[in-house]
Amino acid sequence: MATDVMIQASGVTKRFGHVRALDKVSFEVKRGEVVGFLGPNGAGKSTTMRILTCYIAPSSGTARVHGHDVFDEPLAVRQKIGYLPQRAPLYTDMNVWEYLKFAAEIRGLDDSTFRKRLSKVVEVCGLAQSLGKEIGTLSHGYRQRVGLGQALIHDPPILILDEPTSDLDPNEKAEVLRYIKEIGKDRTILLSTHNLAEVEESCARAIIVSKGRVVADGPLDSIRNKTGRVRYVVTIDEKNAEMGKRAPSAAEAQNAFGAISGMRSSRELPTDETAHKIELIGPQDTDLRAEIFRLVVTKGWTLLELRRDAQSLDAVFRDLTKGDERLDRGDAWAAAHAPTDEDDEDEEEEDVASPKGATADDEDEEEDEDDEDSDDDAEEEAPKPAARKG
Ligand SMILES: Nc1ncnc2c1ncn2[C@@H]1O[C@H](COP(=O)(O)OP(=O)(O)O)[C@@H](O)[C@H]1O
Ligand SMILES: [Mg+2]
Repeated sequence: MATDVMIQASGVTKRFGHVRALDKVSFEVKRGEVVGFLGPNGAGKSTTMRILTCYIAPSSGTARVHGHDVFDEPLAVRQKIGYLPQRAPLYTDMNVWEYLKFAAEIRGLDDSTFRKRLSKVVEVCGLAQSLGKEIGTLSHGYRQRVGLGQALIHDPPILILDEPTSDLDPNEKAEVLRYIKEIGKDRTILLSTHNLAEVEESCARAIIVSKGRVVADGPLDSIRNKTGRVRYVVTIDEKNAEMGKRAPSAAEAQNAFGAISGMRSSRELPTDETAHKIELIGPQDTDLRAEIFRLVVTKGWTLLELRRDAQSLDAVFRDLTKGDERLDRGDAWAAAHAPTDEDDEDEEEEDVASPKGATADDEDEEEDEDDEDSDDDAEEEAPKPAARKG
């Protein structure tokens, strides 16, 4: 493996009983990249991250971090990684200093190294005012900063952050993103989120996962180009026009805008009685707003609104992850395990949940799954080596 590949997942599959949470996931993250790991709830983001950080073992496939296999060399992997789990298990009765000290001790830092690192972490994560405060009294935003602090205390070159901004208010989000950007200047970061705006703000590249598979991977621009279109919405006054000119009918407006060079389609959207609202689709990487505006001026129409839909990454995301919610695999898992006699309820989920008659294989998995359940979030702070399943 080339030395600049910091994270490498190859054909990683993870099954929880009947649920295939990950299905042959493969990707690489290179040194210095800040990569957004994007997907709707239940897509498999946390599962991937927990495998990369040695909390659970893959059912098949391999993962390497900084050149070390997550199964064969979990200690080496952990030294290279700082991990902020989705629900960081902060000890609320410790103060910030005590908690960071505790995190440093787990990482085997001696006292003088801890003190050096602490001053850096305090600076980078903005914790100077809160070192003596009890974690339980801190706001969500500050708790996330403390979470980032514990992930950074041993100065790891790689950070794995699982939805670090979920549950934060917009101001706190912006703050935490700012700290992540700062941290990302000299580190490799894999950042999971279901928020596109966050990825646009802090990452140059994204990996989109849906139903346990990678459905897109590349620079944001090339992912955006997957739809190959830009949407405009133009609203024209239906009654009033410039002196001596006439307001258009909906069909006139629609045809005139549709005839703009390069425009792909034009259709009327529902509005009230006072305006025509026209949706236009133009090619990717162009901005036809000036042409639209000039046409309106030439015709003497009254422009009430002109909008260019810059959220095309949003459209790509929805396209690529369509059906994820419908298939809510969390429910599929629950349904498959609930002692219920409403068997027909499961039918819709049959494509992810294997038939009920458990094979020897399945029984094996259920055992593992119990293990995993018990060491779920509560013990993430004190990791133990993942056990490879058979
Ligand atoms: N410990 C577990 N036991 C059973 N199913 C699980 C477990 N952890 C995750 N899953 C299932 O795996 C799928 C992926 O979950 P997860 O990785 O948490 O998704 P995300 O982080 O993208 O929201 C979901 O269907 C979830 O219900
Ligand atoms: Mg998650």
